[in-house]
Amino acid sequence: MRVCFVTSECAPFVKTGGLADVSGSLPPALSGLGAEVKVFLPLYDLVDREKSGIAAEDFPETSVEAGGEKRGFSLWSRRKDGVDYYFIDCPYYFGRGKVYTNDEDENERFILFQHAVLRTLQFMKWKPDIFHCNDWQASYIPAMLKLQYAWDEIFRNSKSILSIHNIGYQGIFEPDTVTKAGFGESSFVLGGPFEFNGNANMLKTGIYYADAVSTVSPTYAEEITTQEFGSGLEGVLKARKDSITGILNGIDTEEWNPVTDKLIESNYSAMNPAGKAENKAALLNACGFGGNESIPLYGIVSRLAWQKGIELVLEFCEKNIGKDFRLVVLGSGEEKYEKQLKKLASAHPEKIKVSVEYNNKLAHMITAGSDFFMMPSRYEPCGLNQMYSLNYGTVPIVRKVGGLADTVIDISDKENGNGISFPEFVYAEFEEAVMRSMKLYEDRALLAAVIKRGMERDFSWRKSGGEYMALYESLC
Ligand code: ADP
Ligand code: GLC
Repeated sequence: MRVCFVTSECAPFVKTGGLADVSGSLPPALSGLGAEVKVFLPLYDLVDREKSGIAAEDFPETSVEAGGEKRGFSLWSRRKDGVDYYFIDCPYYFGRGKVYTNDEDENERFILFQHAVLRTLQFMKWKPDIFHCNDWQASYIPAMLKLQYAWDEIFRNSKSILSIHNIGYQGIFEPDTVTKAGFGESSFVLGGPFEFNGNANMLKTGIYYADAVSTVSPTYAEEITTQEFGSGLEGVLKARKDSITGILNGIDTEEWNPVTDKLIESNYSAMNPAGKAENKAALLNACGFGGNESIPLYGIVSRLAWQKGIELVLEFCEKNIGKDFRLVVLGSGEEKYEKQLKKLASAHPEKIKVSVEYNNKLAHMITAGSDFFMMPSRYEPCGLNQMYSLNYGTVPIVRKVGGLADTVIDISDKENGNGISFPEFVYAEFEEAVMRSMKLYEDRALLAAVIKRGMERDFSWRKSGGEYMALYESLC
């Protein structure tokens, strides 16, 4: 099985969120299951070429038209964990100090990327059985294959899958996006695959043309066909319901494993959990909270976006600041949240610490050192942090949506409970959930049992990697 995996970010090379984690860990898992995998991503200037160990390929400078002008690109690569990683180097589009931009030509950046992937494969004469396209940045490929590259026999038997990691981001741009990508002007028809409320919508096009659509948890696969969660695409998705599969993300158990993690103070396991306390002490210290270890410590690591429900946390802190708890937040994103969180922390430095930055080591320290991890998301396609937390013995407090509903079992289930969850996105429910966590913190025996269940659950790619392979095989 030859798989061409197309993504806009991939750990450890470049990461803004969970898509990078998945792109960095699913392909090696597929390779372990016998697939031959090539991953393609843009070579942003943020990628440290030396540290990443990537080298320029012997590749003729090629140009692609995206936006009325021809732009040249070249190719870099690296083989790692049985997978070939290819980087499309086009400094004009990818040398902007950011992965995603609000620049006027954001659409052109990923149009160039997608054509460049297909042109590279033509040059290599490599015939993929499957194009695994991720999110809107790769979602024109299914249409390009059917409408523009079908003449080339190397793509004759290729099938495409579009994985939706977050329906909140669709790649909506001016109508001329369609012609910039090389589709005829006549393809932009009202209500057709390229048009959405008068604009171009790259994700919609992908949903329409992909041979199969997948998303990152079974619950989210159901949710996105409803008005509440479909972000306007529920109708298009409903029409393809039989071709949509929800496959729960796995986690990279080498990068996120309390037994071997080199970024934390002390290693520990479900059988031997004592080391967790040292991580809490180290985290308290790093936050400048002093040494009182008997107060519950809450952690958050998150993009600060509307999706993540930060409002509930802010309200909780305002209303309950007199209670005995501590909170450490690591995140960056929307300025509004950054400001509100910083303000809260500067008013209560003795119990709230906020780091507005991207910091992988601190992310690991928070995951290992906190007692509870908060994820009160409005929606959550899968979510990885709750799985990391469970495996690190840090009890997640989550809203019961998407992948959070598929991984966190509330402690009201006495046999299986591994966390705390609340059904509706309303403040009172979140507050009650946090109060229940404070009670749980006092019940040491129950807490230990809940922690153990989380640590013992297998979130590796073992099962889900097999599900992707089965999906590929069903198409070929
Ligand atoms: P999303 O992809 O919606 O942001 P996920 O839970 O799937 O949510 O994945 C988020 C990933 O990004 C996790 O690996 C998390 O640890 C990481 N992350 C998010 N914000 C930061 C940050 N400020 N510093 C370090 N890592 C972060
Ligand atoms: C998205 C989602 C997140 C998911 C990640 C990886 O960024 O917001 O829930 O875990 O993609 O699939």
